[in-house]
Amino acid sequence: MFQTDLLSSQTILVTGGGSGLGRAMAERFGALGARVGVLGRRVEPLEETVAAIRAAGGTAACASADVRDPHGVHLAIDAIEAELGPVNGLVNNAAGNFLSAAEDLSPNAFDSVVRIVLHGTFHTTQDVGKRMIERGTGGTMLSIVTTYAWMGSAFVLPSACAKAGVLAMTRSLAVEWACYGIRNNAIAPGPFPTEGAFSRLMAGDIEEQAKKQIPLGRFGEPGELANLAAYMMSPGAAYMTGECVVLDGGEWLRAGQEFSRYTEYPREAVKQVFGAMRPRK
Ligand code: COA
Repeated sequence: MFQTDLLSSQTILVTGGGSGLGRAMAERFGALGARVGVLGRRVEPLEETVAAIRAAGGTAACASADVRDPHGVHLAIDAIEAELGPVNGLVNNAAGNFLSAAEDLSPNAFDSVVRIVLHGTFHTTQDVGKRMIERGTGGTMLSIVTTYAWMGSAFVLPSACAKAGVLAMTRSLAVEWACYGIRNNAIAPGPFPTEGAFSRLMAGDIEEQAKKQIPLGRFGEPGELANLAAYMMSPGAAYMTGECVVLDGGEWLRAGQEFSRYTEYPREAVKQVFGAMRPRK
């Protein structure tokens, strides 16, 4: 689908690049010629991502930091730049989430998720942004949000608030930093089966039910998100900024559509019902 040197002009930092969607994106970027830095809390999974990228012939490095800690983030980016050179691409993928009734959340529980998702995205974005501005190189930023960044969601209140904030950050900086040649975009995935997300969010038979709500009839595959991310990070998307692209098999539109329930029945039966309802002349 892409030329293998699509991202060869880029050094891309992926937060949360040790697992799940972050790892899928990091590996794809590496295969497309980017030098890839992965940042996260635990070193082991980061090293696995680096090893996988190198084994496929790519160039990668990792550094550990908690995105909630701005100084730690700064030092980790310094370490990655020492190995890979100046970072000119950033993917904000690190996140935290869990299911809880809002009335049961402790202040610290709310704070933990918001500090990872919203503050963490600010820390990496500002740190990398300052480097891009000082060097005059411009760059490309992409944040992974969610379809409930617009409409909110029951039982994931801190995440919904934080992701809405990240979307606002994306659009704000798309305008404010355009003069520096920095693009800022987002992807809003629906459900993608990764261990990190599904072990925390899909309880009981909710997973099967969730699949049925997706018009395309299945969950997304991490490689499909990596494809979109690669395009959005690439020079081919140079005119795209402030955009949030939904990648959810049609899930969120279906949820809001008044008459989408008719899609749950066999189409021929639905057509017969519609025909029977039609006024006779
Ligand atoms: N329900 C309710 N509260 C919870 C919770 C849950 N499932 N999990 C954690 N908390 C609360 C804790 O009780 C604590 O609050 P307290 O101090 O008032 O008791 C607070 O959240 C922080 O928990 P802690 O485990 O100390 O935080 P942490 O910084 O180690 O972990 C989380 C952060 C909670 C977001 C953890 O789920 C995490 O590390 N997630 C990262 C990966 C992830 O979520 N991936 C999915 C992305 S979709």
